[in-house]
Amino acid sequence: MSSGRPDLIQRVSDRPDVVERAFRSGSAIVLPWNSAAAGIARAMRTVERYLATLPIETSFRGADGLEADRQSLWVASTGLGEQLHTGLSDIAHLDGDADGGARGLEVLRCHPDAAGALSVLKNEIDRALRVAVEGLHLHEELPPACLQAVTVRYRAIRYAPVQREIAGIGVHPDGNVISALVTDQPGLTVLGGPGWAVRPAPQAGTIVMPGSILTRWSDGALPPTVHAVEIHRGDPTKCTMVGFLNFADGTDVPRSPRLTGRDEPFRNEVSEFKNDDMRPDGGLADFYSDRGFVVMEGGGARFRTFAELVAGRCGDRRGGFG
Ligand SMILES: [Fe+2]
Repeated sequence: MSSGRPDLIQRVSDRPDVVERAFRSGSAIVLPWNSAAAGIARAMRTVERYLATLPIETSFRGADGLEADRQSLWVASTGLGEQLHTGLSDIAHLDGDADGGARGLEVLRCHPDAAGALSVLKNEIDRALRVAVEGLHLHEELPPACLQAVTVRYRAIRYAPVQREIAGIGVHPDGNVISALVTDQPGLTVLGGPGWAVRPAPQAGTIVMPGSILTRWSDGALPPTVHAVEIHRGDPTKCTMVGFLNFADGTDVPRSPRLTGRDEPFRNEVSEFKNDDMRPDGGLADFYSDRGFVVMEGGGARFRTFAELVAGRCGDRRGGFG
């Protein structure tokens, strides 16, 4: 805690009751791993070696256009803690790039070592997502059919600047309900607003963040964790696996009267919301404006860049991080 601001990343025990308190301020939490750190590290290395064989791609640009050199694949399940889908028709409707999904299916079918490593990481991610779901009382406030229909997309990413000085992902909130990630190197930067940033060293735990659909579903009671990823040429290769939990796309989800004071259903329109997340004057405008993520300029609103956000306090952008 500093100058009245909550920590942007809060290390917590497995007690679900702390989750909502952290998420009400848009903070991420870190949940300690259940399995031994050595086993997680081994799985990360196995996944990283496999990803190194894949083509380099350019990723999501975020609000300020930072791009990645990265290699990635994704796999997915319907329901939390369920088996991964193995057929193209099962994942074709999900919100993810088709090539990355095809690469994930290829691993599950043909590369048992890498598939086993993904499964080790998936178990930890699922466990963390479950703590978050319980901490937000979703298992009590949503009908069982709604929880059974959630999707979890697990993306494994290897970041290694090859074609540019900096690789990464620009400033953004995740466009889903809850994200949980395991990573092996620094690079993730969580942003609370100008001059309010933390670049945590990887800890023996899973980082869990509220996403923008949770914000929309809760009428703003649970703001998203805004973040970016930045890797410089010469930094160690970074590997991450993120689980993106979302309500089923295009469905009506009951709202929480406890959080919102109303019970009209929430309609989940994933791609529409994802586009709107990147608008300074869209559905998240109040949040972006209150936190200083946007500035008025030339009669319109624009996002502050990553550099502007980080330099808000410390000037030396790399000096102020943990
Ligand atoms: Fe993200």
